[in-house]
This record gives sequence, C-alpha cells and structure tokens, in this order.
Amino acid sequence: GWTMVNIAEEAIETIRAQVGGKRAICGLSGGVDSAVAAALVQRAIGSQLTCVFVDHGLLRKGEAEQVEKDFVAATGVDLHVVDAQERFLNALAGVTDPETKRKIIGREFIRVFEAAAREIVEAHAGEVADVEFLVQGTLYPDVVESGGGTGAANIKSHHNVGGLPEDLKFTLVEPLRTLFKDEVRALGEQLGLPAEIVWRHPFPGPGLAIRIIGEVTRERLDVLREADAIAREELTRAGLDRDIWQFPVVLLADVRSVGVQGDSRTYGHPVVLRPVTSEDAMTADWARLPYDVLQRISTRITNEVREINRVVVDITSKPPGTIEWE
Ligand code: XMP
Repeated sequence: GWTMVNIAEEAIETIRAQVGGKRAICGLSGGVDSAVAAALVQRAIGSQLTCVFVDHGLLRKGEAEQVEKDFVAATGVDLHVVDAQERFLNALAGVTDPETKRKIIGREFIRVFEAAAREIVEAHAGEVADVEFLVQGTLYPDVVESGGGTGAANIKSHHNVGGLPEDLKFTLVEPLRTLFKDEVRALGEQLGLPAEIVWRHPFPGPGLAIRIIGEVTRERLDVLREADAIAREELTRAGLDRDIWQFPVVLLADVRSVGVQGDSRTYGHPVVLRPVTSEDAMTADWARLPYDVLQRISTRITNEVREINRVVVDITSKPPGTIEWE
C-alpha cells in the first residue's frame, strides 16, 4: 500500500544506492523542505552527511535555535554552523531597494555556503569516502514550474547553489523530487522532526530583510523579530496556524506616527500585519482573522515592543498586492 513509511523506506534505499560510501553536504535553511531532505539522507547514510547552516541573522525569533538544537536533537545530524550575521549586516548597510537586497543576500549566501562546502571537502580530501554529493530539498512543483512567477523563480535562485565554482563539483541528491508539500510534511512528522519545523509557514530566503521597509539594521531586525513572534504566538494560540498560508509582519522603518503609550506621547513606527490564505502563493487573499485575535496581537505588540505604537492590517489581495511588501 501507499504509505509514508513506504515512501520513507524507498527514499532511504534510493539514497543509499546513489551515494554509496561517499560523503554528502546539505544546506539547511530552517524550512521544512531542506529539513526533511536532510533527515532522510541522515537516515540513509548517517555520519557520511554534513549539514551546513548559514545563520544570516535574518530569521525569525527562535528559528536558528530550532535548527541548531531541536533539529540536531531529533536527527543526530552532523551540523556545521556558520555565524554570518555581521557579514550580512555589513553587506546590507545603506541598502533600501528590494531587488538589491535580494541580490546581496543571494550573493553573500552563496559565498558563505561555498566557503563552508570547501572547508568540508578539504577536511575529507583523500579519504576513501570524500565529498561528492549535494542534497537539495527540491519538491515536485519546483521541478515542474522552472521559471514562472517571481516567487517560484526567486525561491530557486536563492536556495540553488548551482553557482558553485568549477572545482567543487557535486552530484545532486534530491529525495523530495516527486513529492508535494503536504507529503513532505507527513514525511517530516514520520521522521520525528519538531512540529515547529514541519508546520512552518513558507518563509522567503531573504528573510526579515524584505520585511523591513527601509535599511536593514540590527536594531530594526530585533524590533521586527519581537513583533513577529507575538503575532505568530497569538495565531498559534488561536489554533489558526493551518488555516493561514503565511503571516508576514512588516516593519515600516522609515514611517513614524504620533501615539500615546503609558503617560507619554511617542513618535514610533507602525507594523503591518499581512495574514493571507493561498493555495500556491501565485494568488492570495487577505485572511479574515477574528477581531479578537487581531486585537490581542495589536495590544501585545504596542505594549511589549517599545518602538512600535501602531498596528495596521493589510487587506489587499494578490493580485494586485504581492504577499511580501518588497
Ligand atoms: P510574493 O511577495 O511575490 O511572494 O507574493 C510569493 C511567495 O514567494 C515568497 N518570496 C520569496 N521566497 N526568496 C524566496 O525564497 C525571495 O526573494 C522571495 N520573495 C517572495 C513569499 O514569501 C511568498 O511565499
């Protein structure tokens, strides 16, 4: 019969047959696809796999820890973490244009990943089982729509490390190539991955950098991370995670408005809540979140995040509005 157990066992056998006694590298993004791909390969070849996590500092609250602690605990994977936060902040300094942000992040990501891959290759050079394979969490829809809309194309250009130099030649291992997202999630659960990873909403490769309208700074990232964490916490508390496709929180870092918090006038920043429903991100509708959930989010953000004195809701569908603001 067709079960997830069969899918997992078959995939593991296929990986073993492909990789044999060689070594493999896998980049982890924090998302479900790379996590499930890595977990499968780990089951298949164990310590012949090394995972690389580039911490670019643009993830949401708790997500780096989910990869570095929870994922490692759940899988026993050999993880190589690169703390590149400073490097990404420096590269993004003074940049406000959305596409320029994306280009810089994509470029830095490939450079950092490349350097890590090279180190790992060199560390194992000359061994019987040196590094030859690169694991990617490519899904069936990614295979089918190569190109297409901005979202799909961008997702690929960011995560695709096809730009590796000639002397680092990898053969791709893509164990999720025939699967859809819901199947990948079921597989992730079956492999015992943390629910926060398995059920994570889609999140753009450039991360919070494209949810700060204006220049990206460490302070702004911290402010947005706090506001975003509150919104996600209240959505989860209301049991609505699986009804919502994505819930970006956007910081309008260059906009200020007057407010009154406690006993004093403030001149702070607004955040935009952008909850959407969607099937595939190509089109989307604004999610009709219950008023009491919106109210709790608004109250908590303005109470707990000093820099934010106004919370607004985006009620634009896609088209004409994209899901992200940049
Ligand atoms: P938009 O904003 O175009 O987003 O409606 C559609 C989907 O794509 C995600 N997205 C990205 N993902 N790199 C990514 O990996 C990007 O540069 C990027 N831009 C948008 C967005 O979160 C949504 O799921």
